[in-house]
Amino acid sequence: MLPRTFALVLLLTAPLSAQLSQDIERRITGLIARMTLEEKLGQMSQSTAMQIPISASIKEEIRRGRWGSFLNAGGPADRAEAQRIAMEESRLHIPLVFGRDVIHGFRTVFPIPLGEAASWDPDLIGQATRTAAREATSEGIHWAFAPMLDIARDPRWGRISEGASEDPWLAAAIGTAVVHGFQGNSLAAPDSMAACAKHFAGYGAAEAGRDYNSTWIPESLLREVYLPPFLAAKEAGVASFMTAFNALNGVPSTGNAFLLRKILRDEWKFDGVVVSDYTAIEELIQHGFAADSADAARKALNAGVGMEMVSTDWFDHLPRLLRDGQVDMKTIDEAVRTILRLKFRLGLFDHRPQPVGEAQITAEAKETAKRLAAESIVLLKNGNGLLPLSRSISRVAVIGPLADSAMDQMGAWAMDGRPADVQSSLAALQQKLGPDHVLYVPALKNSRDTDHAGFAAAEDAARRADVVLLFLGEEQILSGEARSRAFLGLPGAQAELVQAVAKAGKPMVGIVFAGRPLTFHDTAAALGSVLYAWHPGTMGGPAIADLLFGDSVPSGKLPITFPRTVGQIPLYYAHLNTGRPPSLTDLGIPLGNPVNPTGYTSKYLDVDFTPEYPFGFGLSYADFAISNLRLSTSRLLPGQRLTVTADIENRSKIAADEVAQFYIHQRTATVSRPVRELRGFQRVHLGPGEKKTVTFSLTPSGLLLEGGPVDVWVAPDSATGVSARLLIDPRR
Ligand code: GLC
Repeated sequence: MLPRTFALVLLLTAPLSAQLSQDIERRITGLIARMTLEEKLGQMSQSTAMQIPISASIKEEIRRGRWGSFLNAGGPADRAEAQRIAMEESRLHIPLVFGRDVIHGFRTVFPIPLGEAASWDPDLIGQATRTAAREATSEGIHWAFAPMLDIARDPRWGRISEGASEDPWLAAAIGTAVVHGFQGNSLAAPDSMAACAKHFAGYGAAEAGRDYNSTWIPESLLREVYLPPFLAAKEAGVASFMTAFNALNGVPSTGNAFLLRKILRDEWKFDGVVVSDYTAIEELIQHGFAADSADAARKALNAGVGMEMVSTDWFDHLPRLLRDGQVDMKTIDEAVRTILRLKFRLGLFDHRPQPVGEAQITAEAKETAKRLAAESIVLLKNGNGLLPLSRSISRVAVIGPLADSAMDQMGAWAMDGRPADVQSSLAALQQKLGPDHVLYVPALKNSRDTDHAGFAAAEDAARRADVVLLFLGEEQILSGEARSRAFLGLPGAQAELVQAVAKAGKPMVGIVFAGRPLTFHDTAAALGSVLYAWHPGTMGGPAIADLLFGDSVPSGKLPITFPRTVGQIPLYYAHLNTGRPPSLTDLGIPLGNPVNPTGYTSKYLDVDFTPEYPFGFGLSYADFAISNLRLSTSRLLPGQRLTVTADIENRSKIAADEVAQFYIHQRTATVSRPVRELRGFQRVHLGPGEKKTVTFSLTPSGLLLEGGPVDVWVAPDSATGVSARLLIDPRR
C-alpha cells in the first residue's frame, strides 16, 4: 500500500501533471504549425560537429535551425553560446538538447557497467548515477546515452562491458535504477537529465561475438530475454531509446518497424524520442536494406526513428521524398513532436540554466565510487584463507602494469574521467602500507606486451616480499565498442609472468582488471586468491587495497557466466535442460567399448561442460549458510501469491554482506523453461553470528507460470542453494 501522504500527493498532483502535459502538447502543436520543413528536419538532426571554440559556421547553422541537438560536442562555454544563439537568434527560439555518453560516471568514474552489475546493488548504482547526473548537468549536458541494456551471453563481444548482466531480471532492476538516477523526480530539475535505453534491440546477440554482427532471435526469446530490461526502462519513465546497429532477423534495428512501432509505440505506448545510433541510418545501405541514402532516409523514418545521429540523410533527402509522396508530413510531425516534448519536459523552453562551470569531484562522490567499486569486486578464489592479508606484512611485491594505469582503471566510455583524479592500486597500497613496504615492478609495458625482459625484476621483487600482488587482465583499449576478441585468455605474456613469479614460492594474489569474463584457469591455479575487479573506476585503487587488507569484505557476485574456454560459448545459467543433460560423471572420453552406453549426453569430450565460475557466484571472507527454506503453500491456486522465506546466517566473526538470490524452475511447460530463472535478489548485511530471514514472493500470472511442479531456490549463486518444490494448481 502506498503511504497515505504519498497517495494524497499523487491525488493532488495527478490532475496537475495531466494539465501540464496538455499545455505542453498544445504548445508543441502551435510550434509545429509555424515550423518550416527545414526547421522540422533540423530538429530531427543531431550533430557531433561542434568544435571548441564553436565555429562561425556552426553558429550560423544554429541560427538557421539546422540542428536540434549536439552529441559529445563542445565544452560548457560552447554549449552555452550555442544555446544562447538558438534561443535568442533563431526564428522560433527552439532550444538545443545536448547529449553525451555518460555511461558509468562523468568526472567521477564508477566501475564499468558490468562491474556495477556485479554489486547486485541497484540502490547504490542509482546513487552513483545521480552523482553522474549532477556532474554532467553542471557542465550543461541534458541527455545521457545510458543505460545500455543489451543482454549478452558472449564474452567475445567487447560491449559486454557496458551491459547490465546476462540476466533480464537483474538487468531490469539495474536499468530502472539508472533511469531514476539520471532523471530524478523531475526531468526539468537543473540536476536531472534524460536517460536513453539502448540499443534497441538484440545487439548483444551479435553472432560469434563480433560487434555489429547479425542477430537471429526468435520472437519468443526476444520477448523473454532481450526486451524485458527495455520494458522495465520504459516503465521507469525513460525519456528516450536508441536504435541498435545490428540487423534483427535480417531487418536492421534502425529500419525495423516491428521493434520501433509495433513493440515500442503500439504495445508499450512509449511517447519519447527514438534516436538512431551513430550514422546507423546511412548504414542501412551497407546492410543491404536500403538502395541509397534517400531510401535509407525513407525506411528509417517510416520504421519509427525520430532523430538522426550524425548522418544527414533526412535533411538531404526527405524534402524530395515528401514531394514524391514517399513519406508524409504526419510522420515527420510525429518525430518532431517527440523531440519538442523532450525539450519541454527538460525545461529547456523555460530557459533551463546552461552552466559554464566545470564539474567538481566531491568527497561524497569519491566515497560512492569507492563503495561501488568495493561492492563490484568479486572474490573468485581464496585458497587457505590467504585474504585478507595481515597488516603485519612487512613487504608486498606489486607486479603488473595495470597496478598503476589510470586510463585502464577507468575502463571504456570514460571520456570525462581525468587520470589525475584516479587513485591507482599502487598509490593506495603505498598509502596504506607506506612506500617502503611496497616493491613495484610493472614487468610488462602493457597488458599486450609479450616481452619477458621485465620478468627477472619481477621474480627478484617476489623473492624479497612476503606476498605478491599480481595485477593482471585487459587494458581499457581491449574492451568496449568494436573491441571483440576471439580468445579470452590473459593478453600478452601475463600468464607466463605469473608462472615465472611463482618460482619465488611466495603467496600470490591475482587482481584482474577486465571488461569481460576471461579464461585463466591455469593462472588461477597458481594464485592463492583471485579478486576480479573489472575496470573499477576513479576509486578502484583504494577499494582494492581495502579488500586486500580486510578493511572491507568482498560481496560482489558474477553478473555473467565465466566459461572455462571460449569453445563453450554461448554459456549461460538460464539454459534449457535438453533431452540428454550431461552429468558430472560424464566427463572425459568414454574409452573402451565403442558402443559404450554411457556418455551420450550434451557435453564435450575435451573440457568440463560446467562454467569456470557460475552466474551469481562470489566468495566472502565471512562464512554464510542459507537454511530453513519455507513456502507459504505447497499448492498455489490461481491468483494466489507465493511467499518464500529462508534464513541466512553469518557463521564468522566479521560483519559482511551476502546477496541472496531467488530462482525458479517450471519443470514442465508448453515451451521448455530454463533450469533456473532469477526472480529476485536481496543484498543482506549480517553482523558476526547474525541470522536474518529473507522473503521473496511470486504470483503465477506475473511470471506466466503454467500449472505443474515448480522448483524454487534461495541461493548464493545459480549453481547451489536450498530448494523446495511446489505445485501450481492447473485449475484456471
Ligand atoms: C556509439 C555507440 C552508442 C553511443 C553513440 C554516441 O557508436 O553505439 O552506444 O551512445 O555511438 O557516441
